Amino acid sequence: MKQFEKVIIFYFSGTGNARMIASWFSACALENKLSCRIFNIASKENLYLKEIDSKSLIVFISPIHGFNYPKITSDFIRNFPKGTNQVVLMNTRAGIKVGNIIIPGLTGIAFFVSSCILKKKGYSIVGQIPFDMPSNWLSIHPALRKDSIRFIYEKNYNRMKSHFEKLYSGKTDFTSDKDMIQDLLISPIALAYYVIGRDFFAKSYYASSKCNNCNLCIRQCPVQAISIINARPFWSLKCESCMKCMNNCPLQAIETTHGLWLIIIVLASTACSFLFQDLLTNAPWIIRFLIFNLILFILLLVLYRVQHWILSNKFIAKIISLTSLTHYKFWGRYKANQK
Ligand SMILES: Cc1cc2nc3c(=O)[nH]c(=O)nc-3n(C[C@H](O)[C@H](O)[C@H](O)COP(=O)(O)O)c2cc1C
Repeated sequence: MKQFEKVIIFYFSGTGNARMIASWFSACALENKLSCRIFNIASKENLYLKEIDSKSLIVFISPIHGFNYPKITSDFIRNFPKGTNQVVLMNTRAGIKVGNIIIPGLTGIAFFVSSCILKKKGYSIVGQIPFDMPSNWLSIHPALRKDSIRFIYEKNYNRMKSHFEKLYSGKTDFTSDKDMIQDLLISPIALAYYVIGRDFFAKSYYASSKCNNCNLCIRQCPVQAISIINARPFWSLKCESCMKCMNNCPLQAIETTHGLWLIIIVLASTACSFLFQDLLTNAPWIIRFLIFNLILFILLLVLYRVQHWILSNKFIAKIISLTSLTHYKFWGRYKANQK
């Protein structure tokens, strides 16, 4: 590996973990008297192009969403100009502390797909490094406790230093190789998440009656997925489910609609069991799977909109909130803070 003199970091971050990794890597670079620039992929500026020279190491850092990089990161990498620089791919995954160990998350196909795209553009991949940071996926689990979060930061901070030293000493760093088998096994789920899972999560957010229409969620959304419909925030399918809005809302008014999920799954399962019993008795599993997902998707679009309209009724809004786990204090919120 060639010695680099400059580091250019591109990151996307929902709740700050990837930004934190970017700033730690940058601090290591600056300590070694290297020049370092950090660009936020969501900011849409392309000033970075003139910063890259032949001595630059390019680093991409992004969270994993559904066993792949989120669409905003994948699109950025796909549209990145051709070049011959050395590139390091990093990600932040869902780390959960159990006892004194951190249970790692899953990278899935993120590194594999991005490496292929960048190699085709002429780049040389010199590292693929995952970081198991505190999981921010509060639609499916409560926020981690403060002491667990501190423990996870500490471990990752120390790991970052050794990864930097390895790269700076001229060695490649493919820490991700040890996860290769599980990442390959999980690839069908990565595909399913991309096709339908993303929509399911995008249509799960709503603003409870605590919302005071401050519009912070709209202003901060990295993909401009939130608009005002019927005097309250409405999430479109563009949403990346990055959790920024939910975790940044000063009134904790943004919630995940678990009650609606349950209704949709029960309705889609019931419709399919009737359909497969009477009409499509001999249909292969793939057809059944596609039909189930189609019904799920239609119900999701229709019922999300219905829910949005009836939220203006105080009594119904209360029931929707009470069936959302994110409504309860013990569930908490997560936002990364600098070490
Ligand atoms: C919608 C969604 C999907 C996620 N999928 C995965 C996943 O497939 N594997 C994983 O390890 N972590 C997953 N996570 C957890 C995040 O990748 C992880 O918490 C990350 O550190 C968040 O980084 P950020 O704070 O920079 O957004 C997911 C989180 C969200 C919100």
